[in-house]
Amino acid sequence: MSAIDITAFPKDFAWGAATAAYQIEGGWNMDGRGPSIWDTFCHEGGRVFGDNTGDVACNSYQLWEEDLKCIQQLGLSHYRLSVSWSRILPNGTTNHINPKGVEYYNKVIDSLIASGVTPMITLWHMDLPQALQDCGGWCSAEIADIFESYASFCFKNFGDRVKLWITLNEPYVCAMLGYEDGIFAPGIKDPGLSVYVAGHNMLRAHAKAWHAYNTHFRPSQGGQVSLALYSDRAEPLTAKDAAATERYKEFTLDWFACPVFCTGDYPESMRSRIENRSLELGYKQGSRLPHFSKDEPSPLGTADFFALNYYTSRKVKDLSENTELSFVGDQGAEGVIDPSWPICGVHWLAVYPEGLRKLLKYIKDTYTSVPIYITENGFSQMGPVQIEDVDRSQFYEDTLQQVGKAISQDGVNVKGYFAWSLLDNFEWNDGFNVRFGLFHVDFSSSELKRTLYRSGRDYAALIAKHRSQSKPKSI
Ligand code: NOJ
Repeated sequence: MSAIDITAFPKDFAWGAATAAYQIEGGWNMDGRGPSIWDTFCHEGGRVFGDNTGDVACNSYQLWEEDLKCIQQLGLSHYRLSVSWSRILPNGTTNHINPKGVEYYNKVIDSLIASGVTPMITLWHMDLPQALQDCGGWCSAEIADIFESYASFCFKNFGDRVKLWITLNEPYVCAMLGYEDGIFAPGIKDPGLSVYVAGHNMLRAHAKAWHAYNTHFRPSQGGQVSLALYSDRAEPLTAKDAAATERYKEFTLDWFACPVFCTGDYPESMRSRIENRSLELGYKQGSRLPHFSKDEPSPLGTADFFALNYYTSRKVKDLSENTELSFVGDQGAEGVIDPSWPICGVHWLAVYPEGLRKLLKYIKDTYTSVPIYITENGFSQMGPVQIEDVDRSQFYEDTLQQVGKAISQDGVNVKGYFAWSLLDNFEWNDGFNVRFGLFHVDFSSSELKRTLYRSGRDYAALIAKHRSQSKPKSI
């Protein structure tokens, strides 16, 4: 990674990698864990590539010490992991606590800290307890209070040691793929309706959890709380598509970022577009895109840092003629891949590292003076495994070069970078067919052996170089 100007990264830059509970832990029914929506979705069959499941995955529940060795081998300063909600609260509520689950996360957190690694914890990374889905999941209004109790439980039990929290991971993706397209759990296909209700309740839940932290825990614990937002970088396909590109951005990043960072409400033009189309389609005003109640804590200002998950860029094409009842119909725009961008592994991931620099600048200019953490970014492999994954290594080099330029030339306050992912893992509806790890995992053997990829070795070398240059010079 010689092309990277390492001096662009501040001394205390967070070098991390990320994972999520359902994707790595396995132990799906061990020691009192309750089922999550992904257990149900996978067990139904016909939903996931090869009918793979997260029943065992990387077995991090039993092989945590192996993961810790991987973290140490990379020399990470930070590790982002998620808590499996139903492992600690099997039915999702604090009425039933599973001490073994709490013990597991205490062990993980303590051993990270003892190794000098700062944990960043995500409270919900797609794996809602099934018991809560049975009551309506993210479409039920009650879920916001239930999430607040769960979050407070975690702050209370782990917050003496955990100072960086993510409430929700990628609400956009979860609402879209789980409630609009139905290709992710809980598999609901309800175009143009549930997606907005689910997204709204996610924001309410996040806001309540942030306010709970702010009032009850921040004074003694002094940590920071945010939510991880997915965004691609959007550019018009042709000059005629400029307005469509604005709409595309509004319906992706701004949908969640505007209420939290700008106004406390959805972007005005998103609201008016959905309301006008609702009337045309026979729905009453306000019925599809809900309103935030004045009686509840506002989402405005509920992020102590900006957490960005960036993977890819899109060219945007106008679809304003689309009259169907759907999210895409409301958006009146469609994102397509520029043929000059190489695809890595999965069909949706076109490599365009410059997009990240442009997006970081956009976020700085549009939203925020709070620091930014890139909480996910990565490159996947499909097909025969290449331990000498030179393409992925080049991808990390190109991407981090862009991050360095964003910091040194555009003045963006980027505090950290988390590669997705520490390990090859269960890639949702692509199962184990798609590999994002810095470590290869041999899913064909019961030992689930972890082997460092070339990209992992190069990432570790970069971290070591930064660390050695950041050390005070001895006299
Ligand atoms: C973002 C999600 O947070 C993560 O769970 C997923 O594996 C990666 N994207 C790659 O698709």
